Amino acid sequence: MASLTVRKLDEDLKASLRLRAAKAGRSVEDEVRMILREATEGTVAAAVSPVRSTHQPHRSRAPEVKGLPRVTLIIGGGIAAYKALDLIRRLKERDIHVRCVMTRAAQQFVTPLTAGALADERCYTDLFDAQSEFDAGHIRLARDTDLIIVAPATADLMAKMAQGQADDLATAILLATNRQVLVAPAMNPLMWANAATKRNVAQLARDGVAFIGPNSGEMAEANEAGVGRMSEPTEIAIAADAMLRPPATGPLAGKKILITAGPTHEPIDPVRYIANRSSGKQGFAIAVSAAEAGAEVTLISGPVDLDDPAGVRVIRVESARDMLAEVERALPADIAIFAAAVADWRIANAGAQKIKKTSAGMPPLQLVENPDILATISKLKQNRPSLVIGFAAETQNLIENATSKLKRKGCDWIVANDVSPASGVMGGDRNTVHVLTLDKANVAVDSWPVMTKEEVADALVAKIADTTA
Ligand SMILES: Cc1cc2nc3c(=O)[nH]c(=O)nc-3n(C[C@H](O)[C@H](O)[C@H](O)COP(=O)(O)O)c2cc1C
Repeated sequence: MASLTVRKLDEDLKASLRLRAAKAGRSVEDEVRMILREATEGTVAAAVSPVRSTHQPHRSRAPEVKGLPRVTLIIGGGIAAYKALDLIRRLKERDIHVRCVMTRAAQQFVTPLTAGALADERCYTDLFDAQSEFDAGHIRLARDTDLIIVAPATADLMAKMAQGQADDLATAILLATNRQVLVAPAMNPLMWANAATKRNVAQLARDGVAFIGPNSGEMAEANEAGVGRMSEPTEIAIAADAMLRPPATGPLAGKKILITAGPTHEPIDPVRYIANRSSGKQGFAIAVSAAEAGAEVTLISGPVDLDDPAGVRVIRVESARDMLAEVERALPADIAIFAAAVADWRIANAGAQKIKKTSAGMPPLQLVENPDILATISKLKQNRPSLVIGFAAETQNLIENATSKLKRKGCDWIVANDVSPASGVMGGDRNTVHVLTLDKANVAVDSWPVMTKEEVADALVAKIADTTA
């Protein structure tokens, strides 16, 4: 049996192996054994691609984190640096994107490799490193974030912050930022009680820096106890979460709103589908307005070419049946707005493989009815949102058809819009709507002038807020 010496592998491969091992919490040797086992069983998880030999995760920037709050975690050189590694995990558990920066002293306690592996992005350490400056740059590190956490904050780091020094990456970021800063001090009780530290802490508090801890308890040093222990990672993560996601204010604060948007795709075979011209713009605009009004918004969207709006939970689906399943999963909700253009029918005999052109002629495509999401949710006995709003896209007899839809489906309001090609509504940026509301057996029609889809969204959200106040 051949033997393999990890030390003799090339540097790039070793760096990749170290990264994989650190991520999995295994030794490099065990990681190699795991890769060999996976390769033998044909289940190898991810190719070991060579990386720059910086001993860093090869992805210098994290994957797209649209909508997630971002934290830059500055790790200072104290014994509690090992707790900062747990803090990375606690923040990520809360759907917070973490980017790490370490001081030179911090690297005596924990490695950038471990922090980078846990954060899933390289850890930045050096102000004058050309690669770091090219990847992110100290100014971007200071600004491309919603919150900077310093944990552990050493007495030294706080002194530098109070003085406005900027002679390394951590302090340069802290001086160049205009974001909120949360500091978690950790030091020996005598260092914490020292008049110089007290002055620095008071100065930083005056400068608007937020503090968490330190706690009182046993120190790492034998027979030492007192105030100076860094707050626990969970406490810091909770404080960060509260700073990043302050309690919502606005007329819809405390309300859960479920919104559907976009078309659905109904498969004909694995490569073809039936769709419609809905762009999703109106539903997305309503999600943005509702989130701005303080609501907790879940947006379930069919395939559209739109980015996730900030502060909105977005679930992407393909077909009408997928959409109904996600809608049901998102309940209970206070308000449901069904703006998606859900296909009425799907192909009953969708091909498992691509349907081939043959001399036998065109394949017969049979249609079956899709579930009616609006009617299903409107008629729920349990968990029915207290306000259910449907959209009616009509090309003729708009009010008449929308009135009959309102009565038939069991919803509370219908937003009717003319989607005939001449209106330019489907895919366009403007909309002319009529809001039909049911008051006992009477239907009231509120006709709005032509507006942008954002204006329609704002007006609809204002009407909802008035009604549900
Ligand atoms: C073993 C050891 C543990 C240390 N622990 C702490 C600590 O918990 N808090 C602190 O403020 N300084 C501590 N220091 C001192 C800092 O490492 C030192 O002030 C360093 O310059 C801080 O650098 P930084 O603020 O750039 O990270 C410790 C030093 C050593 C050698």
